[in-house]
Amino acid sequence: MDRGKPQSLEELTRRLHEIFESNDINVEEVKEVMESYKSTRQDWEKFAKFDKLRYTRNLVDEGNGKFNLIILCWGEGHGSSIHDHSNSHCFMKMLQGELKETLFDWPKEEGGQMTERSHSILEENKVAYINDSIGLHRVENVSHTEGSVSLHLYSPPFQTCQVFDQRTSHKSTAQMTFWSKYGERTPLTRGATKENN
Ligand SMILES: [Fe+2]
Repeated sequence: MDRGKPQSLEELTRRLHEIFESNDINVEEVKEVMESYKSTRQDWEKFAKFDKLRYTRNLVDEGNGKFNLIILCWGEGHGSSIHDHSNSHCFMKMLQGELKETLFDWPKEEGGQMTERSHSILEENKVAYINDSIGLHRVENVSHTEGSVSLHLYSPPFQTCQVFDQRTSHKSTAQMTFWSKYGERTPLTRGATKENN
């Protein structure tokens, strides 16, 4: 099914709804459609809410329960923990700026340093993919001058993931929270650990 490039984030979202009607997900097809959308600031700026201290997670669409579409806003120097993806697919498309992705092997035992496998820079409009069988990753905006904005698709959606301490491989569970939903700031919840994925 090829109907050309999605001309807006809305059209991309519609296209993703159609693709995810099937239970058989073709990773390449999803990557291609996400990559073919050329990021246009007006499409996504209402979701792109930055915080001074940490990256934010902003819900765009719940994908009929099949996936979550989330915009992450990364201030200068903001980065995630090393984390897994709770047995889901994770697609990450750059809407603005760049992000550094560092891949790690799953730790074999607790106590030792985690092994960094490789790293890469994700440029504007590019799409990266990861799942738990590929490994773990950390995502960072290493720029000192520019904020980054990325569009993430997780399928099936999940509410918690595991985060890892790089020096000790110690693992803990993190709850995922939203800074905003559909462009509206989410009421603050106390005690929740904010983690991205
Ligand atoms: Fe991730």
